Amino acid sequence: MKVLNFGSLNLDYVYAVDHIIAPGETESTGGVELHCGGKGLNQSIAMAKAGVEVFHAGLVGEEGQPLIDACVQHGVRTDYIRKIPGRSGHTIIQVDREGQNSILLFGGSNRAMTKDYIDEVLSHFEKGDIIILQNEINLLDYIIDSAFERGMMIVLNPSPFDAAVEGCNLGKISLFLLNEIEGGQITGETEPDKILASLREKFPKAKVVLTLGGDGSIYSEGEKTVRQGIYRVKAVDTTAAGDTFTGYFVSSIINGLSVEEGLALSAKASAISVTRPGATDSIPEKDEVLNSDLEEA
Ligand code: RIB
Repeated sequence: MKVLNFGSLNLDYVYAVDHIIAPGETESTGGVELHCGGKGLNQSIAMAKAGVEVFHAGLVGEEGQPLIDACVQHGVRTDYIRKIPGRSGHTIIQVDREGQNSILLFGGSNRAMTKDYIDEVLSHFEKGDIIILQNEINLLDYIIDSAFERGMMIVLNPSPFDAAVEGCNLGKISLFLLNEIEGGQITGETEPDKILASLREKFPKAKVVLTLGGDGSIYSEGEKTVRQGIYRVKAVDTTAAGDTFTGYFVSSIINGLSVEEGLALSAKASAISVTRPGATDSIPEKDEVLNSDLEEA
């Protein structure tokens, strides 16, 4: 069984700010740092750090070599990443004094997927293999349909949610990992239990992990529900906390952990990631997560 993550790779320009800027306001930054990120890349690196061999597929632009180097450094397979003319995806991220962020996303090479490229990548995968997807690349609907035809198990983190997700056949998804806002956008509900009930009704065969920020997370599969709290830490930068959770949880399934063990491990890994700046750099190795003495809040 092989694991493929077809997703974005971004150069994150991270600006330290006193507060997230308001419309019409001008604010000086306390500094800027360049980090490797992108929901796709972050999740691949989280999976690699959690001990899973993952193939990343995606496109970088002319200045995107550091993104490929980050994969190599962390043991993510780069066989299917291609470099194309033009600019890589990048973000402008403001991080305030509480570690909260706001992200402006430039798609660049992440929006240059073609059906030929997708077909070529998927030709290396077969029934029973796992594909992980987010919503920062174009042709998401085509990738879902093609992977489903091949019999792959499809994991979707529908983030950031927009019309492209609505255009996908979500009935083909085996596992959703999404936050309360995305769950609300898909179902029209606002209460976590109602979001889950609606997702169960719409997609009865799918498993769901709903993350609730400070209220932890809930796993739902048919009649089974598992709840997990958070590990409280002093936040420095929340960027990639959700990606760390997603990568660790998918890895826990692949590694044969119980849902309870997987949720606890993912919550702990995600908590550690917010204590550090940056995206891929903030994701902890599995040993660090296992040896940490964080207490559940
Ligand atoms: O989820 C965090 C990521 O979202 C950042 O690394 C940034 O690249 C944006 O895609």
